[in-house]
Amino acid sequence: MKLSHLTLTLATTPLLSASPTPAYPHPSRSKYPGLDILAKRAGLLYFGTAIDNVVLNNTQYTSIAHNASEFGQVTPSNGQKWMYIEPARNVFNYSMGDAIVLPAIAHRQLRRCHNFVWHNQLPDWLTTGNWTKSELEGILENHIRHEAQHYYGECYAWDVVNEAFNDNGTLRSDIWLDTIGPEYIALAFRFARKYTRPGTKLYYNDYGIERINNKSLAVAAMVEDFLSREEPVPIDGVGLQAHFTAGTSPGYENITRVIEVFAEKGVETALTELDVRVKLPDSSEEMVQQAKDYADSVRACVDSESCVGVTVWDFWDTVSWVPDTFPGFGDACLWTANFTKKPAYYAISDVLRGD
Ligand code: G3I
Repeated sequence: MKLSHLTLTLATTPLLSASPTPAYPHPSRSKYPGLDILAKRAGLLYFGTAIDNVVLNNTQYTSIAHNASEFGQVTPSNGQKWMYIEPARNVFNYSMGDAIVLPAIAHRQLRRCHNFVWHNQLPDWLTTGNWTKSELEGILENHIRHEAQHYYGECYAWDVVNEAFNDNGTLRSDIWLDTIGPEYIALAFRFARKYTRPGTKLYYNDYGIERINNKSLAVAAMVEDFLSREEPVPIDGVGLQAHFTAGTSPGYENITRVIEVFAEKGVETALTELDVRVKLPDSSEEMVQQAKDYADSVRACVDSESCVGVTVWDFWDTVSWVPDTFPGFGDACLWTANFTKKPAYYAISDVLRGD
């Protein structure tokens, strides 16, 4: 139990669906009261999910997404990204972000906000402009200032910079690096600290850093550099996205070890986008392996003092990003297309309960 993270659990709401599965028969409400309820009892700050705007018209989806017993935290999977927030220069549209953040506030779910700076999902006006360094720095500050102030005080954490590193540990070539230089990352964090409410956790977020490798070591070196400067660059956390494939997930040992590396550098961590894809068509063996991989990953966070919470990158297979990006793979989430909970749901609950 992480005493530092002990919080009162929110009032429970009835589970929406508890269809038994062959691997985990007869789930009972007392044993499976909801992932966030169990996560808080295990000492985490939250168990959360990403929510996508494209399915907000599905009430079965939204009733689970905003059930605070299941998910005490939400992340807009798209709605706060640059192309939607600032579709034209200095024109801001918060409707997609608000469609997720406002119900989350009403349901007393924490918000992880995602994201200020990324190479992807940028508007054309930004990517096609032939900006000078100082122009782009100004655009960056203006964007962060507006979005941070709109969501002032509403985000537990912001993913300030997303996916800046290549797998070999070098910085990714994109409009930010190529125009501003490597200092764009520090600059973004300084802007984020300037414009977000004091206490907002500022995160660097990336995939493929869930074990010790060139990329995670480069991120750790960046954190060390930031915090050891004469005027430290404000960074509070590293988000391990945790997009895994059943059977080849990093596993408990690797994840706990890399979390420890980040903790030694002085930052908290979270699993920010956990999902475990399987090769299609899936099978009961695949579902058992998926359950093990989910459970091991969650256990690694629970057992690590500096890991504050786990977010799944959506809970519903129908809206998962996986099939589009990895043809032949899918079924990566905790709920099937017909809203049945999978073995992984029960395996995570068992881990959180300490079974
Ligand atoms: O906005 C259009 C919508 O108008 C249209 O109806 C719909 C039809 O499919 O497409 C919509 O755009 C899609 C958008 O998601 C919203 O659903 C884009 O085509 C699609 O490319 C986009 O994918 C998102 C992806 O980031 C973009 O790279 C995924 O949903 C989102 O889950 C994914 O999230 C990223 C994290 O931000 C960072 N880490 C990796 C993670 C997975 O790729």
